[in-house]
Amino acid sequence: MFKFLRFIFGRKKPLLSYDGNISSPDGRIICNVRLEDGQVYYSVYKDNKIIIRKSRLGLDLRGDSPLLNDLMLVRSLNKSFDDTWETYWGEERFIRNNYNETAFYLAERSGKKRLFTLRFRIFDNGISFRYEIPPQPEFQRLVVADELTEFNVDLNGYAWHIPAYQPDRYEYNYSRSPIYELTNSVHTPLTIETPVGYALSIHEAALYNYGSMTIRLNRNNILSSDITPLSDGAKAYVELPFNTPWRVVMIADNALDLTTNHMILNLNEPPKESFDWVKPLKFMGIWWAMFVGEWTWAEGERHGATTEHAKDYIDACKRLGIQGLLVEGWNNGWNGDWLQNGPTNDFLHPVKGFDLPAVAKYAKENGVEIVGHHETVGYVDNYENQIEEAYRYYANEGIHYVKPGYAGAWMTIQGRREYHHSQLGVRHYQMAVELAAKYHIMLDVHEPIKGTGIERTWPNLLTREGARGQEYEGGALSPSHTTILPFTRLLSGGMDYTSGIFDLTNGTKRIATTLARQLAYYVTIFSGMQMAADRPKFYEEIQKDAFKFIRDVPVSWERTVPILGQIGQYYIVARKDRNSDDWYVGGVTNEERHRVRLNLDFLDSGTYEAQIYRDGEDAHYRENQLSIIIETRRVGKMDNLDIMMAPGGGFAVRLKKL
Ligand code: NOJ
Repeated sequence: MFKFLRFIFGRKKPLLSYDGNISSPDGRIICNVRLEDGQVYYSVYKDNKIIIRKSRLGLDLRGDSPLLNDLMLVRSLNKSFDDTWETYWGEERFIRNNYNETAFYLAERSGKKRLFTLRFRIFDNGISFRYEIPPQPEFQRLVVADELTEFNVDLNGYAWHIPAYQPDRYEYNYSRSPIYELTNSVHTPLTIETPVGYALSIHEAALYNYGSMTIRLNRNNILSSDITPLSDGAKAYVELPFNTPWRVVMIADNALDLTTNHMILNLNEPPKESFDWVKPLKFMGIWWAMFVGEWTWAEGERHGATTEHAKDYIDACKRLGIQGLLVEGWNNGWNGDWLQNGPTNDFLHPVKGFDLPAVAKYAKENGVEIVGHHETVGYVDNYENQIEEAYRYYANEGIHYVKPGYAGAWMTIQGRREYHHSQLGVRHYQMAVELAAKYHIMLDVHEPIKGTGIERTWPNLLTREGARGQEYEGGALSPSHTTILPFTRLLSGGMDYTSGIFDLTNGTKRIATTLARQLAYYVTIFSGMQMAADRPKFYEEIQKDAFKFIRDVPVSWERTVPILGQIGQYYIVARKDRNSDDWYVGGVTNEERHRVRLNLDFLDSGTYEAQIYRDGEDAHYRENQLSIIIETRRVGKMDNLDIMMAPGGGFAVRLKKL
């Protein structure tokens, strides 16, 4: 502590006012920081155009005066950083982390003379900052009543948003509206098209032990942070030292450039231990059959998770070249109305018809990974009572993947009803990730906390569902949804969209896509775990040829090259396999037909066999959904492919190096 004080007070006299710039390494982005009349503000420019006007920074505290006014600048320290790191898995094998940093050490001039630091990191593709509060003799803990961070963007820009504080958490369709309409809180990443043509996304990185940040207009009509409260209204209870999550504004010349922004990962720490046991996975599931009503989660005649079904699916995985199998409804607690049953889920005991050790053994003998399942229904207390034993149980049976779920509008934590995205929710999700790592378990979290890049530190967190996924098909999804996700939700990390539904015309779940589009998702929607969600007979018998793409497509990539995109209209991306010289391309369109000339100049030199899966001329997401053309051609980097995406359609191409 004293060392810290000596360090920050140094020899220089504190400044009562300050006006200085931090520039991005390429000089195009400038962040201006000012101390005026005891308050700190920042503003942001790109190419001399204003992106964020003068915005206030500060924290309101419960039972204490706010950390906001009466400040002086004791010291500031600059640093530049440039490093390239290798991911365990992801959209890129190597990520460059390059920024200029300034830390502003601030102190109150009177009263308790409390200290805090504002640390800014300015990248070529955005700005970030956080509050850091050291422990002080009379200031050891605090209760955040409100975070006063503003993002004073032009209100005439348009935002793509989903509502916060709603029962279905992040599982909503996106709306586009002018920023001046954002009077109710919305989730981040909040993607914005500015009036002068830039694309921004406001988000956060390294969310630990704090409420998740939502965004809304404050009383002064400025876009600002709204931290998810706890049930007593406080935003966070913290012991010092404490750093808030990074506040991030990604800044791009156009929306497509946002999709390769890796600031969120860069603002997280490298892992402290080796995670070389982590492996991305493609998996099928005893799951969709429940959705279409053939099987049930509950026990009974049509129970899905039986030993026999599991063994059949394991055989199918083996034949189809799919490495994993998710089994839902295997444990006690599903009978009756499971959403209303209360905290009855028991993660230590399989139901009578499901011999877990026998299934696990059979899977192992056949080289298939079981993906376990924990539906907590949001009863976190009940889950935390069992979680370690439940992980150990799975680990002892050789089960290394778990999909936990937190269905329900609330979490029950410490006997209280809390938001999933509150500080207590965030802490629970984190505890689960760290405990899973201890048992070498990899996670695909449904109803999760949003991604803030912590998978850099915890690579066993392979993916999350955490957005409206394919289970909402059958009426609640339109084709435009998956042309919005790459520019919004997917900026926060991968998503298990539960792709690969081939039974598109089923009466219970009619799907609003074409068949070719289901294949495109494996490229357009990145996820460290990719599901092939339909039943095996659709892959083995009914659409055998289309399935070949799912078998071939990798989960983890060497490089990602976005090709074309307009939010809500279409998105095309090329990715290179991490373990071969092959490239893959996926494209999706909204309800409109879209013809593209796909330039293959991203390819390396040499000849490739293009295996093309595209919509038939008469394909449409409402009729002729299964109309698909599968063809091969020899191509090189000088070639183009002309491809028509049908309304609600898409395409997938494997470019196999010859
Ligand atoms: C709700 C989830 O949304 C769904 O995907 C899952 O199958 C059920 N919970 C059961 O866990």
